[in-house]
Formats: sequence, structure tokens, C-alpha cells
Amino acid sequence: MTTVFVTASGTEVGKTFVMCKLLTELRRTTLSVRAVKPVATGFDPNDIEASDTGHLLAAQNLRPTAARVDAVTPWRYAAALSPDMAARREARIVPFEDLLSFCRRSEGFDLTLIEGIGGVMVPLDERHTVIDWIAALGAPALLVTGSYLGTLSHTLTAAEALRRRDVELLGIVASESPEQPVALDETRRVLERFLAPTPVIALPRQRSDADAIPELLPLIAPFLDAPGT
Ligand SMILES: Nc1ncnc2c1ncn2[C@@H]1O[C@H](COP(=O)(O)OP(=O)(O)OP(=O)(O)O)[C@@H](O)[C@H]1O
Ligand SMILES: [Mg+2]
Repeated sequence: MTTVFVTASGTEVGKTFVMCKLLTELRRTTLSVRAVKPVATGFDPNDIEASDTGHLLAAQNLRPTAARVDAVTPWRYAAALSPDMAARREARIVPFEDLLSFCRRSEGFDLTLIEGIGGVMVPLDERHTVIDWIAALGAPALLVTGSYLGTLSHTLTAAEALRRRDVELLGIVASESPEQPVALDETRRVLERFLAPTPVIALPRQRSDADAIPELLPLIAPFLDAPGT
């Protein structure tokens, strides 16, 4: 049993997109995979299909029943804000220890994919940010970033923060932003130069869900060789 944490340099850069691509490719393997997005904000129970939870279930060919939504995303908040702020508006909190226990509850699965929320240091409560969550789990991370103007500093800052907390960085996925100042590969090459030997892959803007990304699965390949371990 192993866990990979999918985090990002910021919100809306492509974590769910990458999770869904990985899930689609993993369906061609014999691995049993648990995919969770434990904390979601901006969650609308009347439009689950449009939520990250709905997307993760759809990528596994699963209908979003109430039980499945609870199993994928136990902590859901209405306001589209950071988790600490969204929870506070409902007089609730994100219970950090319960969150860790939930993430560790992966018996029977070969691989657990966890989508974080926002960027690496978005606050979860008054004391913890996402990076505390990743470090406490001791999980290796995939860092999803964009190719917008400003991404170089955001990405290098996020990678440095993870490194300082001894989080193993499996790879960077530069997901093409709707607007970018240079070709995607130029951004990829600059990131690669600063982050070597961590692999950096470019994920072009996809036109169809069916488009395959052959470089993606190899980023977590160390965990795919030995199912059940
Ligand atoms: N490479 C890509 N090609 C096409 N669309 C993309 C790509 N990357 C991201 N998107 C789209 O951009 C939007 C934001 O991506 P996504 O929802 O995956 O971001 P996120 O990091 O999970 O955001 P959040 O912080 O809200 O969880 C989505 O509509 C997604 O489908
Ligand atoms: Mg998401």
C-alpha cells in the first residue's frame, strides 16, 4: 500500500485534471486504487458532477452516490475560500488529526491518490497548512503547476517549501494555462534546469478527455511495480 499526494503551486492549475488522467491510465493496470479529495470548498451538493469529487468518481466510471461522495470527500464546505475560512463560516473546522487518519485508512488498496486543496501552503485551520498535511503523512508528492506568467517563481517556491519539509518530490507537471507568455516547453525546460534531477513534464492543453499523456504514469512508476506492497 502506498500513497501519492497531488498538490499544486496554487488553485485551479490542474490537480483534478492530473488526478483524472492518472485514474484513467491506472484503469489499464491491475492495481486497486483509492482516489480521494478529502477537503473541498465551494462545494455545491446540487451539482456534484461539476465538483472535484464528481470528476474523480467519473474518471473511475462510478456514479456519485451519497456514500461514495462521503468516502471521497468527507469534509465539504460551501464557501469557495481557503478551508480554514470556509469552515469558519459554517462554525466548523477541518479536523487535522481526523484528516490524517482518513488518509491513512487505505487497507486493501495498492495505491492511494490524494488530491490536496489549493496550493502547498493554503491554511487548513488556524495552525496547519497543506504542507503540514503532506509532511505528516510522509507521502511523496506530485506538484502540478501552470504555464502562466509568474509560474516560475510560484513553482520553484512551492518545490523549495516541499524540499525543506523533506517531502519527496516525484515530479512536476506543468499543465498548460489558458494564457501563457511563451511556449509550454520553454517553461518546462527552465523548471527542469532549476529542479533537476526531479522530472518535469509538460501537459499541453487537452482538447479531449481521451488524449493520453504517456509521461504521466511513469512519474509514479516506482509505486506501480510492486502491487500489494
Ligand atoms: N492541461 C489541461 N488541458 C485542458 N484543461 C485543463 C488542463 N489543466 C487544467 N484544465 C482545466 O482547468 C480547470 C482547472 O483545473 P483543475 O480543476 O484540475 O484544477 P485544480 O488544481 O484541481 O483546482 P482546485 O484548486 O479548485 O482543486 C478545469 O476546468 C480543468 O479541466
Ligand atoms: Mg481540484
